[in-house]
Amino acid sequence: MEDEHQEERIKDAAKNDNSLGEKDLPDDENSKTSNVNLLEKLREQFTGLFFGGAVGPGFFRVETTEEVREIKPKQPPPQDDSGDGERAKRLDGIRNFSMRPKDVSDYLSRFVIRQDEAKKVLSVTVCDHYNHVRRCINDPEELTKDYGKPNVLLLGPTGVGKTYLIRTLAKLLGVPFVKADATKFSETGYVGNDVDDLVRDLVRTANGDVELAQYGIIFIDEIDKIASCEELGRDVSGRGVQVNLLKLMEDTEVSIVAPNDITAQMSAMVSFGGKKGKKETIGTRHILFIMSGAFEKLNSHVRKRTSASAIGFSRSSGSDHGEDFLHLATTADFVQFGLEPEFIGRLPVRVACEHLKKNDLAQILLCSKGSLLHQYKSDFDGYGIELTFDEEAIYAIAELAAAENTGARGLMTVLERLLRDFKFHLPSSSIKQFPVSAEVVADPAAHLKKMLCGDENSCNG
Ligand SMILES: Nc1ncnc2c1ncn2[C@@H]1O[C@H](COP(=O)(O)OP(=O)(O)OP(=O)(O)O)[C@@H](O)[C@H]1O
Ligand SMILES: [Mg+2]
Repeated sequence: MEDEHQEERIKDAAKNDNSLGEKDLPDDENSKTSNVNLLEKLREQFTGLFFGGAVGPGFFRVETTEEVREIKPKQPPPQDDSGDGERAKRLDGIRNFSMRPKDVSDYLSRFVIRQDEAKKVLSVTVCDHYNHVRRCINDPEELTKDYGKPNVLLLGPTGVGKTYLIRTLAKLLGVPFVKADATKFSETGYVGNDVDDLVRDLVRTANGDVELAQYGIIFIDEIDKIASCEELGRDVSGRGVQVNLLKLMEDTEVSIVAPNDITAQMSAMVSFGGKKGKKETIGTRHILFIMSGAFEKLNSHVRKRTSASAIGFSRSSGSDHGEDFLHLATTADFVQFGLEPEFIGRLPVRVACEHLKKNDLAQILLCSKGSLLHQYKSDFDGYGIELTFDEEAIYAIAELAAAENTGARGLMTVLERLLRDFKFHLPSSSIKQFPVSAEVVADPAAHLKKMLCGDENSCNG
């Protein structure tokens, strides 16, 4: 029965990529409008008092599974009691969690090409974690037992699918998900943001539902940028941010309203008023943390360290990418790179993604559900033009993209360059078919000229 439930979830997720993602932030309920107006007035007054009215509240980007949004930190989460059905469905998904690592990995493979080790490690980790969560919900006795949280560190070069893997995973699981860049945080929270805001954002993403939010995933990207070693890393002040993250990554209670945000405090008083027993903090015990970063300099550091046997290592590890050394990084390497021992120690599950080669890039175009070709085809379809690619063209594009050295991101660079002029001219012509061959990829300008010359609407004679 449970298996059927989970299977349905996988099918649902496959059918509709957005179906299991986050919901948009709800508007305040109508009944609270007057409170909100009152608060707005108070906020103006307080902002004037404390900041001379000159400084507005800070903004930072938080990416959810559906979209990238600009949201305000340090605002109280909306206390939306609507959508009970959706809430129950998502909580049920966690209570009855019964996915198998292989199913999770297979689902990821529909979107993400290669990175098999990362898929395997992530699938096993989330299955273990949510099995544990399920046991804790169904049997409170479990809470008394020790639990080492399997927080994950995902390493690898740019554009090879690190973020894409996690985003796809969160969609499948249907748990609240928040993504932020480590560079947005500051030690004090005065200039950048306080790391506790991440947890509050999780509550916000779960529509103010603390119970649901406590089973969410927090994904922090660019974690290598807060390494505090000047020589190998970048940012000396990153140490403070690492220290602040320590307690979150284990088990702590975070206030749902930011303690230094007067507006939020007052708003909370209004919304919590009369609702005795409403939870004002959220525990981080079950929140899974996944950190990711390119760790470029660490890669060369490890290559040097292992230089004596580098070639042998790289071949014997099964990787056919001679430039991948991150899978050989030890805890000592991370510490030397500038991650605090306590910090890296709380990220026990580590896995490296590989560089993508020409054939991998071609496979991304041909097989991934998220292939950019769908996007470009629908761009041309918007003008009634059918865009097609033959296989040789795909490999020619992949070759150019591989030379960009930016992973799968290179595909977009190449496609943009290749199709830009066609996108400009073809919609005004009578051409309705645009087959892209290897010749078109080799010399797009000449091909466009030839196409337009044969077109009655475009040729000037
Ligand atoms: N292995 C892959 N399979 C399919 N598509 C991929 C893969 N890697 C990257 N892509 C595509 O490239 C885009 C960028 O990848 P992603 O955001 O995951 O890069 P990243 O590894 O997080 O890089 P960075 O370190 O720069 O953040 C994705 O949205 C996806 O469309
Ligand atoms: Mg990324």
